[in-house]
Amino acid sequence: MNTSPVAVVTGASSGIGAQIAKELMENGWRVAAFDLRENPQTDLCILVDVTYESNICAAIDHVEKTFGKVDAVVAAAGYYEETPFTEISLPDWQRMLRVHIAGVHNLLRAALPGMLRRHKGAFVTIASERAIGGGCNDAHYASAKAAALALTRSAASEFASHGIRINAVAPGPTDTPLLPADSWERQRDFLDTLPVPRIANTHEIALAVRSLIEDEHFLSGEVISINSGTVI
Ligand SMILES: NC(=O)c1ccc[n+]([C@@H]2O[C@H](COP(=O)([O-])OP(=O)(O)OC[C@H]3O[C@@H](n4cnc5c(N)ncnc54)[C@H](O)[C@@H]3O)[C@@H](O)[C@H]2O)c1
Repeated sequence: MNTSPVAVVTGASSGIGAQIAKELMENGWRVAAFDLRENPQTDLCILVDVTYESNICAAIDHVEKTFGKVDAVVAAAGYYEETPFTEISLPDWQRMLRVHIAGVHNLLRAALPGMLRRHKGAFVTIASERAIGGGCNDAHYASAKAAALALTRSAASEFASHGIRINAVAPGPTDTPLLPADSWERQRDFLDTLPVPRIANTHEIALAVRSLIEDEHFLSGEVISINSGTVI
């Protein structure tokens, strides 16, 4: 019987999620990727939109039946758009909130019953430095990430006594396809204003996530900010 730990990683077909999946697999985890796109390099890839609760419940159920359990969930699915405040439409707000809040909520709702039965589990939300420091021209993104952070901390308080540790990582600008090649956040004159004058790489985020989910002591409700020391 294969006793290796099992992780579900959403957004695992690109950027931060893909690197987390790789990092975990290289360290003995079996990884199920949930994404809108394929990642053939994981043990199981389920094409699913995190905004649909019943589809996420069915996907978690499938992982539990395939591997026997889900030890950890990493909520990395997300997107970014830069829009001046007065131009953010109601559908823009609704989509942003659905992906980043309902997406995290749906995963928690689906994964918690199995974790509660085993009295053990770990959950990590990939938030953003914008959740803490706000943003310029991305109020809907910053608000959605701030709500996801509050949801994560609330769930951490509620489930810590059940053996389930729920934490967050809040990256600053990170080198992934989410950040366009011509983004102002990649420009040298901007980077030179940062305490550590460079963007993060996905490996740095993945290491933090792995340490949070493999941590055997009581870190819970923590937010690790990986952002050049810009928002602390
Ligand atoms: N790159 C950065 O600078 C940065 C900074 C802070 C936070 N983040 C956050 O990190 C997470 C990962 O971002 P990234 O930079 O790796 O972006 P990315 O675009 O490289 O990857 C995002 C992945 O999420 C998937 N996805 C998007 N919406 C989905 C949905 N509704 N259902 C299922 N999958 C969906 C995409 O298909 C893609 O594979 C996001 O939540 C993002 O907000 C990124």
